[in-house]
Amino acid sequence: MIIAAPDFSLERAEKIAKNLGVDSIEIATRVFPNGEVLARLSDTTMVNGNDVLLFHPTYPETNDRLLLLFQSVEALKYYGAKKVMAVIPYLSYSRQDKRFLEGESLSLKLFLDILHVIGVDTLISFDVHNASALKKYAKTKIETLSLYNDIIRYAVESLIGDREFILVAPDKGRLDIVRRLAKSFSCDYTYFIKERDRYTGEIVVKEAGDIEKVDTAIILDDEISSGGTMAKVAKRLKESGVDMVVAAAVHLLLVNNAVDRLYNAGVSYIIGSNTIDNPYSTIEIEDKIASLFT
Ligand code: R5P
Repeated sequence: MIIAAPDFSLERAEKIAKNLGVDSIEIATRVFPNGEVLARLSDTTMVNGNDVLLFHPTYPETNDRLLLLFQSVEALKYYGAKKVMAVIPYLSYSRQDKRFLEGESLSLKLFLDILHVIGVDTLISFDVHNASALKKYAKTKIETLSLYNDIIRYAVESLIGDREFILVAPDKGRLDIVRRLAKSFSCDYTYFIKERDRYTGEIVVKEAGDIEKVDTAIILDDEISSGGTMAKVAKRLKESGVDMVVAAAVHLLLVNNAVDRLYNAGVSYIIGSNTIDNPYSTIEIEDKIASLFT
């Protein structure tokens, strides 16, 4: 097996290659003046007859990076890759897992169809927004890895210490995972009910029951995008007397002043993984990816 990665994520891919003791090749990327993109394998001979692990984050610059991913897979197949296993740590378009409004595109299905058509043999990703939608629409073999446990363990060991805490699901989508983690970390949990206006994006959250009188809460979500969901839940927790609120999520997109929004709502810490690289990424995924092959 060899590892291939676009220039913008080569350094990270090389960590995986080093861990596995395999070679890596760079995929040079460019953007033409008219906005079109192009991927070019820096070495085609190494590809021929080999399985290829393509490490290809698609965030930020999602749309360009998706095109580059498709082009890379096409080129890898053309130059004789036996199998292409695409690692897309944060699965773009995964939130559009249904037609919320009449006439909308079902982007998740479209994206998965494209991966299948261009010949991706395995898709490897982390904590996808809706696991059952992924299962329903994927025609490619899927490996999903989970970081929720690692994130909570980090919060407990590095931030919370001996303080008693509750886990909070900011909406019903995260309830099952929060319930399961609460059991394994022997703590209480609660959840909120969230409604999003599909036209304006405006969010309303409402606690599902009384918030326990606790000192510390970890709100756990799959992703923090604008921070609107977390900020609203954090604010309610603070109003109910919670002293320390940790905002934890696997994918930290942190768009549109999300960080300020969270701190202004009373969040003490923001933690997550480097499925999207940023200063709040505390959990690293490179070794997890390597461990799939050892
Ligand atoms: C949606 O249901 C997801 O699980 C997240 O709650 C959501 O994507 C977070 O988005 P934002 O940070 O913009 O509220």
